[in-house]
Amino acid sequence: MVALLTAVCLFSAVARALALPSPHIPMAGSLPVLRLPRASDCHPSHTEFTSSLSDLYTVIEGDHATGQKGLQLFLDRPHGEVKMDKETATNDVVGTGATVNSTYAMGHGKVTFEVAAPTVSGVVTAVILVGTQTPGEIDVELLGGDPAHWQTNVFAPTPKDPRPLFGVFSSVEDVPGPEGIAAFHKYTIDWDAERIVWGVDGQDVRTLDRSKARSDGFEHYPTGELRVQLGIWDASSPAGTSEWARGPVEWNSAPKRISAFVRSVTVEC
Ligand SMILES: *[C@@H]1O[C@H](CO)[C@@H](O)[C@H](O)[C@H]1NC(C)=O
Repeated sequence: MVALLTAVCLFSAVARALALPSPHIPMAGSLPVLRLPRASDCHPSHTEFTSSLSDLYTVIEGDHATGQKGLQLFLDRPHGEVKMDKETATNDVVGTGATVNSTYAMGHGKVTFEVAAPTVSGVVTAVILVGTQTPGEIDVELLGGDPAHWQTNVFAPTPKDPRPLFGVFSSVEDVPGPEGIAAFHKYTIDWDAERIVWGVDGQDVRTLDRSKARSDGFEHYPTGELRVQLGIWDASSPAGTSEWARGPVEWNSAPKRISAFVRSVTVEC
C-alpha cells in the first residue's frame, strides 16, 4: 500500500513536471500521451504580399504598403536638417526604415526571398533570419551603393568573443542581369545543422560548413530558432557601417522616400 501510494505520488510529481494530465482524469489509453513542445512553429508557406502581410508577418517599425509588386518597405528621410560629416562620411541623423518580422520561427529550413532593392548609396535592404532566443543571424544584404553584388553574412556571437566578428563570415557575390539588385531576383538561404547554403535565382553560390564557422577558438554557427526579418535601413552612421554601405545617404539628391520590394517569401521547413 505504501509502495503504491509512493508510486502514485511520484507519478503525480513527474506528471506535474512534464505537464501531463493529472492521473485523476480518466485517460483513453492506459498511458498518458507525452506532449513534447514542438521544435518550431514553422510550416511551409508561400506569401505574396499583394493585399496584406498575412498573419505570418508583422510590422515592427516604419511604413510599408502591399500591392502588385508585393511588400513595399519604405525608408523615409529624417525630419529636419541632416548634417553630413565629410571626414567620417556619416550623417548626424538616419532615416526611419521599415522592418517586418515573421510571426513564426524555424529550427532549420530554406527560405527564398524575391526582392528588388533601391540603388541609393548608403541604403541597405536586408532579408535575414534572426535569432528569437539567442543572438544569431543569417543574412542577405543588398547595398544600394553596389548594385552588381549581394552580400551574405553570418553572426553568431558567443559571450566569450574577444571582439565582434563583423565581416568575418561574409562574402560578396554577383547579381545576375544588367540591372543588378534593382531587378527582382530570388535570394535563398538554406540552413540546416551542418551547413548554410546561399543561392540566387536557383543557383547555389556559397556554402558555409559548420566546421568552418569557427573563429578565436569558438564556434559561430546559428543553432537556436530563427525568424524571418525583412528590412530597409539607412546605414549613414556610425562610420564603420557607413563605409561598408558606401554611405552616407545624400539626402539632398536622394528621394525623400526610398522603397525596397519583397514580392514573395517562400519557406520550406
Ligand atoms: C522581431 O524579431 C526579433 C528577432 O527575433 C526580436 O528580437 C524582436 O523582439 C521581434 N519583434 C517583435 C515585435 O516580435
